[in-house]
Amino acid sequence: MTSLPHLGVSRLILACLCWLNINAVIAAPKSTAKQCSKLSLLLPSKVSYPASPSYLSSIQSYFWQQSEALTPACIVTPTSTLDVSIIVGTLTVLQLFNPSSALFSVRGGGHGTVVGAANNNGGVTIDMSHMNSTTLSPDKSIAFVGAGARWNNVFAALEPLNLTVSGGRVAGIGTGGFLTGGGISFFSPEYGWACDRIAGMEVVIAGGVVLYVTRQLFPDLFSVLQGGSNNFGIVTRFDLKTFEQGLMSGGVTVYDVSTVTAQLDAFMGFMNPATFDKKATVIQAFVWQAAFGPLITIDMEYALPELNPPALQPFSSIQPQYQSSQRIAPLSELVTELASFQPSGSRGLYANTVLKPTFDGLKAIYDIWNCTIDSISGVDGIVFSIIYQRVPTTLAGNKNSLGLPSDAGSLVLVELSISWNSASDDTLVATTAKNVITAIENYTKAAGLYNKFKYLNYADSFQEPLSGYGASNLAKMKAASKKYDPLGVFQKAAPGGFKLM
Ligand SMILES: Cc1cc2nc3c(=O)[nH]c(=O)nc-3n(C[C@H](O)[C@H](O)[C@H](O)COP(=O)(O)OP(=O)(O)OC[C@H]3O[C@@H](n4cnc5c(N)ncnc54)[C@H](O)[C@@H]3O)c2cc1C
Ligand SMILES: *[C@@H]1O[C@H](CO)[C@@H](O)[C@H](O)[C@H]1NC(C)=O
Ligand SMILES: *[C@@H]1O[C@H](CO)[C@@H](O)[C@H](O)[C@H]1NC(C)=O
Ligand SMILES: *[C@@H]1O[C@H](CO)[C@@H](O)[C@H](O)[C@H]1NC(C)=O
Ligand SMILES: *[C@@H]1O[C@H](CO)[C@@H](O)[C@H](O)[C@H]1NC(C)=O
Repeated sequence: MTSLPHLGVSRLILACLCWLNINAVIAAPKSTAKQCSKLSLLLPSKVSYPASPSYLSSIQSYFWQQSEALTPACIVTPTSTLDVSIIVGTLTVLQLFNPSSALFSVRGGGHGTVVGAANNNGGVTIDMSHMNSTTLSPDKSIAFVGAGARWNNVFAALEPLNLTVSGGRVAGIGTGGFLTGGGISFFSPEYGWACDRIAGMEVVIAGGVVLYVTRQLFPDLFSVLQGGSNNFGIVTRFDLKTFEQGLMSGGVTVYDVSTVTAQLDAFMGFMNPATFDKKATVIQAFVWQAAFGPLITIDMEYALPELNPPALQPFSSIQPQYQSSQRIAPLSELVTELASFQPSGSRGLYANTVLKPTFDGLKAIYDIWNCTIDSISGVDGIVFSIIYQRVPTTLAGNKNSLGLPSDAGSLVLVELSISWNSASDDTLVATTAKNVITAIENYTKAAGLYNKFKYLNYADSFQEPLSGYGASNLAKMKAASKKYDPLGVFQKAAPGGFKLM
């Protein structure tokens, strides 16, 4: 596998930078419109403006309404690393001479919930979706995946060869946000966080410089990109370690809420290290929605073509069940099924916290959820869920930035997931979410079960996932930012999301 420091590209960018530099001084762009026209000049046909078909199709492809509602002055859709380099080089110069005109966002699959993390009002949005190819190294051990690809397409490309990579569990999720935030896959009990399967990344850092980053070549940048989101640059390609994967078993089983005690018992059993099965994953969700009231759904997957394996029987044997789709199927079909449970177009909020599980702890959190329903049940289109899943296993020798202990696989991630229809309910939902998480953390702290880790990709804007990685990881991230982005382009010009400074 090879791909190298693109010296040719860097030289060209330097030339561009000089040209822009002079231009910026002369033209002194003040408005974002000039920022867009500058990009239009350099990349004609790749910059689109409000109301044009390409602008609309990009905006309308965000998963959540709150991201779709933002209106950047222009959207630029690079089709190559050189394009991304020109864009970042241009924005760096603008940031240097006129910081207020350099606002930009980086957008992958557009599934992030945090408002302003992957789109903005009045700036430039860099939509990576055209950089979506998946190819293989000659020996098939590495998949080269574009940072604008969506996981279902990546899986579909590898499936005919009986290969796969660790990626998102729901069709449509993008590789860019998922992998830079960590990434929980169906293979996490065996292979850890999806970002732990990255062999190398092609990244465009401030100034438009293109780097090929690996654990050997740029170790300080490599590890902070595993969890550091968009703080260091724009990843243009992920080189992912493949593994053999044939058909799996999986599906969603829906139960009556009266089964809650049996469900929590089964979950505690599932967390027991003595019966750990690295092929089994479970997503246990307590869901309330206006049309049905409360329900419990268990998503069970098994990474072998084996129906109802012992590790999952404690769940599959619980009755009464309303429906179950457990079957043998390819991964691409299972992620498409999960997408059908989560339609796009509503508003959405995720928040999360982690605990060392006990039956009483899981029950207390369930009770907090249950007691909160009344206060939020009147919200139009409300779906209000508390979801339990195992924190991915920490692999030996793992050096990502998440800062999790070696026994992280014995911890439970509690995800609060809320979707609703109308912006007029945003404040009520945000307040409720904060209260629920605070109440849970008050409980887990008092009970000695609290863990400070928060999963960035499920975090709301009131949370601080980067601090949750621990002081030493946070310090490494700040040092890498100062080293690779001394002007702070990704800190100042790309606001939103979870920033270091
Ligand atoms: C329906 C649904 C299902 C989900 N299921 C899972 C799951 O199974 N497992 C899991 O771990 N998570 C899951 N998530 C959370 C998901 O991982 C995050 O939303 C993730 O950020 C999505 O990545 P994206 O590229 O689609 O998002 P975007 O909204 O496009 O980007 C999210 C953030 O990443 C940054 N970013 C995007 N691309 C790049 C890049 N190339 N370089 C640098 N920064 C970049 C953006 O600037 C933004 O801050 C799910 C989310 C949804 C909505
Ligand atoms: C890449 O994106 C284009 C445009 O959205 C789409 O038509 C195409 O099917 C995608 N290709 C792959 C391999 O995902
Ligand atoms: C993939 O696995 C299936 C089932 O084991 C087998 O029939 C098929 O030949 C394999 N395909 C390749 C390309 O190895
Ligand atoms: C949920 O809360 C309601 C009242 O708020 C209570 O009647 C019900 O028993 C609770 N359900 C469970 C399963 O604890
Ligand atoms: C959490 O604990 C703090 C400090 O004891 C308290 O002020 C707050 O009201 C509690 N919040 C919730 C939602 O339980």
